[in-house]
Amino acid sequence: MYNALFQPLRIGPKLLKNRLFAASHGVGFGYRDPDAMLAIRKMKAEGGWAAVATEQTEIHPTSDLSPYSGLRAWDADDLPVISAVSKAIQGGGAPSAIELCHSGLNVSNLGTREVPIGPTALPTQQYLPAIPEPFYAREMSLADIEAFRQWHIAATKLSIKAGYDIVLVFAMGTLSLLHQFLNPRLNRRRDKYGGSLENRARLLIEVLDDTRAVLGKSAALGVRLSVADLLGDPKGPPEALYQLLNGKADFWDLSFFRGGVLASGSGRSDFDGDAYLHSLEAAREVFETPLTTTRFFDTPDAMNAAVKSGLIDFVTVARQSISDPFFPQKLAAGELEAIRPCIKCNICVSGDLSYVPVSCTQNPAFGEEWRRGWHPEIPKISKRRKRVMVIGAGSAGLEASLRLSERGHKVTLLEQNKTVGGRVNFIAQLPGLDRWHQVVDYRLKRLLCQSEVALKTDQLVTLDWVINQAQGYDHIALATGAKWRLDVVDRTTTRPLATDGSLPIYPPTKAINLSSGKTLIFDLEHYQIASQLALLRQAAGDLVTLATPCAEIAPWTHKTMEQQSVQAKLLRAGIQIVPHVNLSRLTRGEAELRCVFTDRAKRASYDRVILVGLRQPSNMKYALEKTRSLNGQWTAIGEADVPGTVGQSVRSGFKFALEFEEAVATEVKRTRPLVGKTQRE
Ligand SMILES: Cc1cc2nc3c(=O)[nH]c(=O)nc-3n(C[C@H](O)[C@H](O)[C@H](O)COP(=O)(O)O)c2cc1C
Ligand code: SF4
Repeated sequence: MYNALFQPLRIGPKLLKNRLFAASHGVGFGYRDPDAMLAIRKMKAEGGWAAVATEQTEIHPTSDLSPYSGLRAWDADDLPVISAVSKAIQGGGAPSAIELCHSGLNVSNLGTREVPIGPTALPTQQYLPAIPEPFYAREMSLADIEAFRQWHIAATKLSIKAGYDIVLVFAMGTLSLLHQFLNPRLNRRRDKYGGSLENRARLLIEVLDDTRAVLGKSAALGVRLSVADLLGDPKGPPEALYQLLNGKADFWDLSFFRGGVLASGSGRSDFDGDAYLHSLEAAREVFETPLTTTRFFDTPDAMNAAVKSGLIDFVTVARQSISDPFFPQKLAAGELEAIRPCIKCNICVSGDLSYVPVSCTQNPAFGEEWRRGWHPEIPKISKRRKRVMVIGAGSAGLEASLRLSERGHKVTLLEQNKTVGGRVNFIAQLPGLDRWHQVVDYRLKRLLCQSEVALKTDQLVTLDWVINQAQGYDHIALATGAKWRLDVVDRTTTRPLATDGSLPIYPPTKAINLSSGKTLIFDLEHYQIASQLALLRQAAGDLVTLATPCAEIAPWTHKTMEQQSVQAKLLRAGIQIVPHVNLSRLTRGEAELRCVFTDRAKRASYDRVILVGLRQPSNMKYALEKTRSLNGQWTAIGEADVPGTVGQSVRSGFKFALEFEEAVATEVKRTRPLVGKTQRE
């Protein structure tokens, strides 16, 4: 069915067994905690990907991405780690690819304290969310450029020594020095490396020639190149550049997103994948070696169609390889329902941008393969078969039930609503968030195949009912979720909201189907609910004011690379944004907003207030805590334990199921640092 994806392909001296290439992406462990990272890469190789790439690998101390922990190929000290990565990937059954990178004026080198370098003397801009920095990069002299070429050659030699099959040269967006030279906005030089396209492409071409000379036939040479920022037109065609580069690499991974792949390429659901693919037509005309791209391929059909169309030769995939490392294997076996679809939530990216191990909403085992011994596919069968009642079929309850049944336990899953899904049903109704429903759909489909799970919806569960039923079960997992608070109490505000009842207050879940009116939305969540509700209400005819104590709306979405597109959509929709205020009073049909700095108050009349406040566990948890007869027989999971993201609820359900009836909780292993020694000693 997906024949186009399962044909072998030659790239230079190497043969790919299929057309599914696991893209470079950071995992947050890097050189500081390599064992956990090795296990991730190895598992992908076992999952059937044609090749598996590392994350960005710094080639020199002048490209120090600290505090980010990726890979390093500075010198022979790094050989043990990068060799281990290559061996792990090959051990899993796939060719290994290393991505060599110098970040130029994108790094501030705060760890190594080396002077940043770039094509032009400009301020550095390392940290995302964008915090403007008072640091500069020095304009590279011709001697610096020559030194850079030598560092790249040395890192390529190291990669060959480490056994890599593929070397990827990184020229992706403003993150890469090579791209910065190509980019006329960042390269304002007047020498042979600046000005005309030929001059700006000179360094990339020299580096490709250098790399080719080192590699010979021992490894394939690929280039990750983004072209959107180069010529001012995101649709291209930058044919002149392609003509210059043709013949210089064994394959090309092209992207056309402005300002970095994820910022514009992975926003919410308004991305036109087909139009994007057509940007490749000009490249296809020119390049004689294989072409690929990363453009959120969200379904096997989209991947297969892209390869079949002939516009690309293989797909390069990052996030779907995180949410399901075994995607190729399942696809080849026709087990489509077993594939955990990536929901494009970018929680993985939030880990990368927080400089911590990356986690995944859909794949709770991601990053835990080595340090906790978790496997996303292979259940640890329980020695004793137990009867477990799971109350609540939201993300935690569904995940726990699925994993408990896979381990051999008998599960009764109860849901008080007519449909399963809990808060995900609400989230998925918000603009651009429909993919979130796949968290539920995937688990429900899998659960319905399990003979040992009895699912009962529309089941009223009261405390008395639980106490009566409890004797029929060995354990109860309480997954009743959380509810929205209707006050403005958070970490900074403990003052209760003064109200005379003249203005109705709605929690987000009750705000979807209201008739239209003048609406104030006040946000204490700082993630995605308030902004998406504002868009929904404005589209329903409301006049929306969106107020926040912060400087921007949805500040946490900087971590998911969505803040800019979210704020742009709000402004385009005509939503009034009021930053830096607290909601202090609702009286006489007016809301009072006070400046967080000066405490100055402003009042305005509204028809209602939608409060996106804090969340608190459902009442059932507190009732059970008071019930001595059930002591030790129940565990709260997901938001019934502690409110958080959907991914945290899934993880909580997974962890509960895995540790249920085990003597000890899974430990968290770390790679031991070498004290007083270098890697070489
Ligand atoms: C958590 C995360 C980290 C990433 N780190 C890198 C990286 O180190 N080097 C790189 O070239 N691309 C990196 N990317 C970008 C991906 O390779 C890919 O281009 C992008 O995610 C779009 O593809 P996708 O829709 O298949 O995820 C990263 C992506 C994610 C999600
Ligand atoms: S965290 Fe979200 S976007 Fe990232 S891989 Fe998982 S499901 Fe996909």
